[in-house]
Amino acid sequence: MSSTKNPQVSRTIAEVRQQTSQWRRAGERIAFVPTMGNLHAGHLALVEAASKAGDRVVVSIFVNPMQFGEGEDLDNYPRTFDEDLTKLSSYNVDLVFSPMVEEIYPSTIEHTTAVDVPKLSEILEGKYRSGFFRGVATVVNKLFNIVQPDVAVFGEKDFQQLLVIRQMVLDLAMPIEIISVPTWREPDGLALSSRNGYLNSGERQQATAIHRCLQRAVQAIVAGGNPTFEVGHATQQLDEQGFLVDYIVVRRQQDLAVPEEGDQSLIILAAARLNDVRLIDNIMFTLHD
Ligand code: PAF
Repeated sequence: MSSTKNPQVSRTIAEVRQQTSQWRRAGERIAFVPTMGNLHAGHLALVEAASKAGDRVVVSIFVNPMQFGEGEDLDNYPRTFDEDLTKLSSYNVDLVFSPMVEEIYPSTIEHTTAVDVPKLSEILEGKYRSGFFRGVATVVNKLFNIVQPDVAVFGEKDFQQLLVIRQMVLDLAMPIEIISVPTWREPDGLALSSRNGYLNSGERQQATAIHRCLQRAVQAIVAGGNPTFEVGHATQQLDEQGFLVDYIVVRRQQDLAVPEEGDQSLIILAAARLNDVRLIDNIMFTLHD
């Protein structure tokens, strides 16, 4: 963390373009952190990584309607702009881009050109949140076009999102380096998420079970346990503790495909609902010969 610095706040694309093109002309490297605001320590770790990766740091705060499905919490999504700005002022942020919805979507969302990353967007989260990755890829593509960063930073907590963005950048030949930052956890293991704010104190306590169950499964698999059995066991444990488990799976890190004999870089991913709150988490791990 550096000393206090009030970042410039821009609401329009034109203003961001003007500022970032000036930096580019001066040969400065621009690092970008896209967020939906309601910033917590996990986001701030992304900002910290961005300030190490670039000369200038741009953070966007935009609650993207396109990635919210029916029945999801768009209207109630916490909007905490003033607090977010105060938090960012302790970091080395040069520009905060916080546009209105009309600035990003001048036509209706149904009429907006969209980016689809096939296959990867259709599994796991994509199965449970129809249109979610289309909304994410479209807005991130647009934000990339506006900011034109050299490097962009994403969290590993949303691991599938990270892979979707990497795939988009590769497929569309975007000259942007994607950096990932490990999941930030509370001391009791709970992965930081804006959704944690929806948990009451009892649920907050219960929620720690997700990471514990994943950890136990990983330890058992690394020690030679059968992944299918361990995943089943973890699912049963979460069921018994009052969760509705959407999925717990072991996949390959590189593409989230089902692992084949010899694959060593793996990840266990989970999504489970505690009453109305849907939580996701994952742990990457390596199998040794
Ligand atoms: O991870 C998020 O907060 C959002 O999905 C992102 C990447 C800012 C796009 O709206």
